[in-house]
Amino acid sequence: MYKLSVITVGILILSQFVSAQLKIPAVYSNMSINSDNELSLKVDSFQIIVKTIDPVYRVDDFDQAWEDGDKGLVFNSAKKNLTGIMYFGLIPYGDSKHPQPVFRRSVQIRNGKSAIDIADVLRGRYDMVAWEKSGKAVLGYRVLNTRGTIIYNGVIGFKYEDKFLVDLTILEGPFINMLTSSGTTISFRTNKKVVSSIFVDGKEFKDVTETFDHEIQIIGLQPDTKYDYRVEYGENSQEYSFETAPNGGSRKPFVFGYASDCRGGVGGGERNINGHNGYILKKIMALSSMKSLKFLQFTGDIIGGYSLNEEDIQMQYTNFKRTISPFACYAPLVVGMGNHEALINTFTEPKKDLWISVDKFPFETESSEYIFAKNFVNPHSSLESEDGAKYDPDKKNVDFPSYKENVFYYTYDNVAMVVLNSNYFYAPSTRYIPVTSGNLHGYIMDNQLAWLEKTLSKLEDDEHIDHVFVTVHTPAFPNGGHVKDDMYYGGNNNYRPYVAGKPVKKGIIERRDEFLNILINKNKKTVALLTGDEHNYAKLKLEPDTEIYPENYPNKKIKLKRTFWQINNGAAGAPYYAQEKTPWSDWLSGFSTQNALVIFYIDGKSVKMRVVNPDTLELVDELILR
Ligand SMILES: [Fe+2]
Repeated sequence: MYKLSVITVGILILSQFVSAQLKIPAVYSNMSINSDNELSLKVDSFQIIVKTIDPVYRVDDFDQAWEDGDKGLVFNSAKKNLTGIMYFGLIPYGDSKHPQPVFRRSVQIRNGKSAIDIADVLRGRYDMVAWEKSGKAVLGYRVLNTRGTIIYNGVIGFKYEDKFLVDLTILEGPFINMLTSSGTTISFRTNKKVVSSIFVDGKEFKDVTETFDHEIQIIGLQPDTKYDYRVEYGENSQEYSFETAPNGGSRKPFVFGYASDCRGGVGGGERNINGHNGYILKKIMALSSMKSLKFLQFTGDIIGGYSLNEEDIQMQYTNFKRTISPFACYAPLVVGMGNHEALINTFTEPKKDLWISVDKFPFETESSEYIFAKNFVNPHSSLESEDGAKYDPDKKNVDFPSYKENVFYYTYDNVAMVVLNSNYFYAPSTRYIPVTSGNLHGYIMDNQLAWLEKTLSKLEDDEHIDHVFVTVHTPAFPNGGHVKDDMYYGGNNNYRPYVAGKPVKKGIIERRDEFLNILINKNKKTVALLTGDEHNYAKLKLEPDTEIYPENYPNKKIKLKRTFWQINNGAAGAPYYAQEKTPWSDWLSGFSTQNALVIFYIDGKSVKMRVVNPDTLELVDELILR
């Protein structure tokens, strides 16, 4: 009897512990934890269970698989059933501005094991980095599965001391982030925990503690100046350069770029490097470098995403960052969120063909917003979350995901870029939002809209700023592929988010109109809305007589008071969409399903745009905005 009650108490404590771990945020509805401690959703009269799957690959299955060896490095992955092929070669740092591996040979991976023969294969006339003299070098390697799909692009350093030893290696980066007129934050990841330093202009900036993920703030620099920098990690170093921004309001000519949607395409090879189109993305990065873009804004759908676990989405982010590393060490690539940056809980009942997804929780440690912030170094704004909005079900606790690093703004000289997130607290299964609650694809929620209004008004009063660009993944006016959603939903205003089982007050088109009113009518410095989601390039002229409503639209209408542009560029590598008929089709031009990089030329009060195909380098479109 005594034993039984101990077991019962034990089970009770355990179930409370598990329940405490799986606390359901008050913003969701119809979810519960069943007696087996599974997260469950009530749909009609069914209870359906959340799907849990083990990750297929983990970043550490590759980054941490390396061991010392006599003839080279040994690959011994924790993923014992990994079978495939590995290509490898040396990376000639210092030989080019953008160092990349020169793949030289391939080896089979069986049962998670392989080995790279450096001593025989990469010596003599193939030793283009002179490791035989220096005793060290860095290898690039690429793992393909048995179907020939690229699953990982990795790097690993080695040193030779009678045998080949795994060396301290920069796995991704360095990246230039949050560039200002007096400094920047440089981030990178190493394969071992270490205190690293960055030397700029004779000064040393270093990590506070040993870490894998380095984020080092560089301060006290002169504006509009090129600085060489050296990253020192252990006995190793790499050298690059960056240019500080001019002082705000200098009004010197400069160029920046815009694109989105480089998630994986079809066609095999580098068009899908486990989540992103590495082929087009690399071409965009190379073109950006050639055109000396001061920064590249990239608003969403950088990966395939929609992952059920953190390890899977992390693999995709890591591969993306590896592709941009040789370029983003010189100038910032600033990433915003789209719908594909989704880490989700999916409730499923395959027999009834039910797949119902919501933003994963706990929000603080497992949401799409959390993993995005963990992967990128973006400014923190004053906007915290949707907590405290009218629909907040619990005023005492924070029940929403964070806006940290996914909604923010930054400036460069006389330009401001405001980055929004219309996939915050995103529930992908639109039909089931009334059941689960969650935000609608394309909807800017109340607190975010209020923050936008406040931010634009602040920029309107800033004498250094002449041009404000606002960017959000989903177009206010979709034209091909997403007319049925984005900020239009085929003209049906009934679509809206639900919070704690209740619909919010404003429907999607009412919210779009409030957004447009702030963007166009209440502010004068705003030039263009930069969007993506639709995998095409297109420009839309919005002017007072542009038709923006469906026929017989029953609600209040707004009048646009001036000319404004929506520039859509979701043509960075995801599969294309064709053009569809909309009320505003007559105001649309330049529609193209070619891959595109939009380049803005800022010269004082003037704003011009040229759109270039990064694959063929042909001119796709051009426009004078101001
Ligand atoms: Fe999208």
